[in-house]
Amino acid sequence: MSDAIIRTENLTKEYGRGATLTRALRGVDLEIPRGSFTCIVGPSGHGKSTLMHLIGALDRPSGGSVHIDGQEIAGLGEKALAALRAEKIGFVFQFFNLLQNLTARENIETALMLAGVGEARQRQRADELLALVQLAEKADAKPGQLSGGQQQRVAIARALANDPPVLLMDEPTGNLDSSAEAEVMAVLEELNRQGKTVILVTHSGEIAARANHLVRVRDGLLEGP
Ligand SMILES: Nc1ncnc2c1ncn2[C@@H]1O[C@H](COP(=O)(O)OP(=O)(O)OP(=O)(O)O)[C@@H](O)[C@H]1O
Ligand SMILES: [Mg+2]
Repeated sequence: MSDAIIRTENLTKEYGRGATLTRALRGVDLEIPRGSFTCIVGPSGHGKSTLMHLIGALDRPSGGSVHIDGQEIAGLGEKALAALRAEKIGFVFQFFNLLQNLTARENIETALMLAGVGEARQRQRADELLALVQLAEKADAKPGQLSGGQQQRVAIARALANDPPVLLMDEPTGNLDSSAEAEVMAVLEELNRQGKTVILVTHSGEIAARANHLVRVRDGLLEGP
């Protein structure tokens, strides 16, 4: 078998019931190669975010299975699921969700603290992560003093706090102009070169063209290449 870091079998997800039942995913068999730069594309409302949440263990399937780095999530209780998520997955969302009253460094230190990194190590590690996303000089700036692309790079640095093997992102450049998007993409491509599996949902054909693994979602199913 191939070395898939994420694998799903006959994955289904339904929301609501009766007249409001929505079959968001209708039987998805997916393999995401370890170390790949994967883009998930498809029309609005066809199940991309739903798939993202399931492969990131943010939500549970209605049916079928999800394996994350060899571990099937179905049998896990809430605590074990949260632990798996924390160890394996770094999330970056479209709206950066940074704490506005904290500086860039403090936002990352907070994540490091939650990840169990000792206080003495937090500052040094936060500064390493800021350097990694090319923002060393903005460590003391608050999100309101940063551009959209810079804020998104802080969010990426924060997602790396646990050094997870997978970075999972739902339209991370959806709110950015093209130059900010290019900065964020450069950081993601560098992280991918360093070995992270990068998975992102995008509506941008330009970004999708840079993926080395493309997943097309249509009407709750995967489309062939
Ligand atoms: N929490 C929810 N409750 C009920 N229905 C939902 C929920 N989340 C998503 N859906 C429905 O599931 C389907 C798939 O939604 P999803 O968010 O996965 O689409 P998407 O491909 O990410 O779309 P977009 O490109 O607009 O973000 C849609 O019909 C949506 O209305
Ligand atoms: Mg979506």
